[in-house]
Amino acid sequence: MDSLPNPYSPEHPAPPAQFAGRRAQLTVFHEALADILAARPRNLAVPGAWGTGKTSLLLSCAAITAAEHAAFAPVALGGGIRGLPDLCATVAAQLGDAVQHHGVAETMREYLDTVSVSVHLGPMKMTRYPKHAADPLLLRFRETLTAAADHSPFIVAIDNAEYLQKIDGALMELRNAFQEVQSSGKSCMLLLAGSPNLFADRSIAAPASRFFEHTDLEAFSAEETREALTLPLGSSGVSMSDDCINAVHTLAAGHPWMVILTAYTLFRVRKTDRISETDLATAFPMIQSSVGRQVFDVLYRNAGENGQQILRSFARTDAVTLSSAEIAEISGVSNPHPYLGRMCERDPPLLEKVSRGKYRLAYPLLHAYLERKMREE
Ligand SMILES: Nc1ncnc2c1ncn2[C@@H]1O[C@H](COP(=O)(O)OP(=O)(O)OP(=O)(O)O)[C@@H](O)[C@H]1O
Ligand SMILES: [Mg+2]
Repeated sequence: MDSLPNPYSPEHPAPPAQFAGRRAQLTVFHEALADILAARPRNLAVPGAWGTGKTSLLLSCAAITAAEHAAFAPVALGGGIRGLPDLCATVAAQLGDAVQHHGVAETMREYLDTVSVSVHLGPMKMTRYPKHAADPLLLRFRETLTAAADHSPFIVAIDNAEYLQKIDGALMELRNAFQEVQSSGKSCMLLLAGSPNLFADRSIAAPASRFFEHTDLEAFSAEETREALTLPLGSSGVSMSDDCINAVHTLAAGHPWMVILTAYTLFRVRKTDRISETDLATAFPMIQSSVGRQVFDVLYRNAGENGQQILRSFARTDAVTLSSAEIAEISGVSNPHPYLGRMCERDPPLLEKVSRGKYRLAYPLLHAYLERKMREE
């Protein structure tokens, strides 16, 4: 409509000033921070499906921590971390930056030197080290944590923490290191944010899982959607009608990423400074196509032939909820149960179990996507 910059960005986490809702999680964090500042150790895990706002929450936690003059060391995991020494070195380096203290920095540097020496010794040495209880690198890692805590209370926040499962022994080593340092009265917290399957390997990871207080991130409530939609508009002079806000919440099923993607598109297509339901109708094909391309295409492809048949049965009827018997009849898949279970449990889920034997699509937008797929095929 005009050259006002679009205040919504589905590609980026919400900056603290635009962070909506999540009061329960913020309260837990505030209390945990107060506890560690009083030398009572706490550790938190934030499991949340894709796009529910884990990174956004961590950004707000960082701002809160800074206001309390404690150190916050963010570590975003990805495929690039090759093993435990690499992980410990990354945490130590981030912690070094966070506490910015000469004495500590010195300990960190020595630690990092030890790590890089061993890394250069080649893969043999690297794989042997982490398995050894008295591994000098891991001992140094604990000393580093202690040295950092001597200088300042700190939080190590690991984002995309589901990657820890791919690093042999990482979860347990982190737990052991933090447990030891905290047991000696030091003020620090380990904060993990990751997919709901963060602790999926229960046999090995259960003690690790128990080390954390869990505070789950789910879809936005209607009030949280309202805040997420209105905060970024600020004093821009642009506003959104109540009907439109409610319609966005329903369309996105409160999924934070979908809410912001919808808002971004609405802002682009708006005809006046009052964004309305009419704009939503105009924006719908664009929203549909973005979500399709970015999310549903991959999920649909990976659902396999029977899974796709089952999904399509929802597009063949106007009923929102179907029983497993109805799904079997419409889809022609005689025993849909194993597929239904899998599609509800995967991250992201495709279906949602409403009650015993009753299912619906996990996102309202998936219905229109499946209708289009059927027309194309
Ligand atoms: N509390 C919130 N307030 C406002 N916007 C939010 C909030 N939570 C998430 N969002 C928006 O939703 C989108 C996804 O958020 P974010 O990247 O934090 O999620 P994530 O769980 O870290 O995602 P991923 O699983 O891809 O790492 C972003 O556009 C972000 O701005
Ligand atoms: Mg993230």
